[in-house]
Amino acid sequence: MPGLTIGDTIPDLELETTKGKIRIHDYVGDGYCIIFSHPADFTPVCTTELGMMAKYAPELEKRGVKLLGLSCDDVSSHKEWIKDVEAYTPGSLVTYPIAADPKREVIKQLNMVDPDEEDASGNQLPSRALHVVGPDKKVKLSMLYPASTGRNMDEVLRVVESLQKAARHKVATPVNWKPGDPVVISPSVSNEEAKQMFPQGFDTTDLPSKKGYLRFTKV
Ligand code: BEZ
Repeated sequence: MPGLTIGDTIPDLELETTKGKIRIHDYVGDGYCIIFSHPADFTPVCTTELGMMAKYAPELEKRGVKLLGLSCDDVSSHKEWIKDVEAYTPGSLVTYPIAADPKREVIKQLNMVDPDEEDASGNQLPSRALHVVGPDKKVKLSMLYPASTGRNMDEVLRVVESLQKAARHKVATPVNWKPGDPVVISPSVSNEEAKQMFPQGFDTTDLPSKKGYLRFTKV
């Protein structure tokens, strides 16, 4: 697959945003950052997404996660659009920066181009891409949605919690996991190590193979 993907270092681009110039690595700092793109300003699905992301921002901030939006229109258009966004989603305040990319240079470098969408002048448009970047400036998770499908912000918060648990505890989160549910112990951890690492204990599921690889614990 061409372009930026998980495990890659996010390019340290300088961006024009609604909060002034931002260098991506400085902005990520020592925490996590969600960089998410939208096809265009003043479009229906994007307007709903930006407002809901603003409502989730305090929960993300508690987890050390900053937000950085991107839409290809210019900064003055973004500032006008934010008024609509905040009016549509009561209680939302768009305090995070939204980057501009009128020349479509940023979206190419961040693997955020939607090959099936273009504006009235034939210019490429961004997809609904979302990269979660870690403190090491590497992409930990990416989502890639078409313009027609708005993202689910509960899912964005859920994957952040999963990534942070995995980074802290050598665990992984199983199917349909929700915060508070048991997690599974990574296959690279032996049972002896698991006893040291998880003094609260763990349960090994008995499966026909008897390989003992499906071990649940709480962290
Ligand atoms: C939207 O945000 O609703 C949208 C934007 C571009 C193309 C299609 C839908």
